[in-house]
Amino acid sequence: MKIVIVGTGYVGLVTGACFASNGHDVTCVDVDEEKVKNLSNGILPFFEPGLKELVDQGRSSLKIQFSTSYESVESADTTFICVGTPPKEDGGVDLQYIFSAAEQIGTHAHPNLVVVTKSTVPVGTTKKVQEIIKNISGLEVRVASNPEFLREGNAVEDVLNPDRVVYGVDSDYARGVLNEIYQTYNCPIVKTTIESSEMIKYASNAFLATKISFINEIANVCEEVGADVRDVAKGMGLDARIGSAFLRAGIGYGGSCFPKDVRALKSIAGSSGYEFKLLSSVIEVNNAQWRRFVETIESTLGDLNGKRIGLLGLAFKGNTDDIRESVSLLIADALTQKGAHVVAYDPQATTDHVSTVNSAYEAIRDADALVIGTEWSEFTNLDWKEIKDSMNSPIIFDGKNLLSKEVFEELQELNIQYIGVGG
Ligand code: UGA
Repeated sequence: MKIVIVGTGYVGLVTGACFASNGHDVTCVDVDEEKVKNLSNGILPFFEPGLKELVDQGRSSLKIQFSTSYESVESADTTFICVGTPPKEDGGVDLQYIFSAAEQIGTHAHPNLVVVTKSTVPVGTTKKVQEIIKNISGLEVRVASNPEFLREGNAVEDVLNPDRVVYGVDSDYARGVLNEIYQTYNCPIVKTTIESSEMIKYASNAFLATKISFINEIANVCEEVGADVRDVAKGMGLDARIGSAFLRAGIGYGGSCFPKDVRALKSIAGSSGYEFKLLSSVIEVNNAQWRRFVETIESTLGDLNGKRIGLLGLAFKGNTDDIRESVSLLIADALTQKGAHVVAYDPQATTDHVSTVNSAYEAIRDADALVIGTEWSEFTNLDWKEIKDSMNSPIIFDGKNLLSKEVFEELQELNIQYIGVGG
């Protein structure tokens, strides 16, 4: 199939590279000339495990190409819109990039084109895309919604081997095109209406965020009553109706999706006249969780003025260089405001918020505390003896409950104090 992907962010680039590896002829279109030039030379705009190899493979087999022009839409079977849907001030969704992509597609549309929205979009957006294309081309192209569920840091694996594929269509023709694209996928495929498909994406992200806020509140209660949230989560998660995923307590969720999508769903519900009370609490809990962690650091260390803190991790989660809405950065800023000198290390991410160094050992040298802000696996097997010897006072605040019980024993033997979230 000839596929055009509009937008070369996480969703677009990974989807394009995976479709190319499945044998389709893919053209990735982006308005950013520099990005397109770099991608054509194999230089990726962000770090994602396994993606560079896949893009290089696609480039050498000529299955993937990059362009700033929408001309390839003219001969494409289908075009996937994968541009950003950033938040507006009021929590709603800014759809300007979706609509301008639709306008461009409209100028190159043909009667058999199927236009698919893969970006996370409020219910009704895919139909608006159809209308825009009609206004420009006079053609009523078929449209579909096919949300993406990839996680950053695991994106290639998630796209090639998803838990499920969801698509919403209102024509047999569009269903046929999507059936063909996903025919080799060995997972359940949910075929539904366009509206339900658009909603599935928001509902999924909001539910996962709710699970995180729930376990974070359980963690806070555990701290008060002397229980251990890791054991509680384990005991809960083994119930197949609950499931063990997304029950890791910590400093709250961040990133470019959960914070934005939870706010968006609340706002979408509000605009339709329904008050989504649960989501207000999910957001409130998430905003309070990292502040509570900072308070724990302060109450343990005393006055933070002049204290040196080694911060491990800047990205919003492990295996990515993405710092959008990273909770670790919020903590770094709060500690700095309280007069602490924060020295940070992240294997991939950078920032100008705090001083950064090139290794975990450099970050914690002479530190009064070590703070874990991101779940990089590299931080699970550090040389704890070396860390103890180089720190000013040996204490670890683990904001991601990353270290295992086996590590605790080693820390105890070395007399390193450990404080996680939730007991
Ligand atoms: C999330 C969803 O998991 C994807 O399915 C979805 O496609 C994506 O958003 C999107 O809408 O594009 P992502 O933001 O990449 O993916 O990252 P997650 O792995 O979901 O983590 C989000 C945040 O929750 C991170 O800050 C992470 O540290 C935190 N988290 C996750 C927890 O605090 N506890 C957990 O148990 C799991």
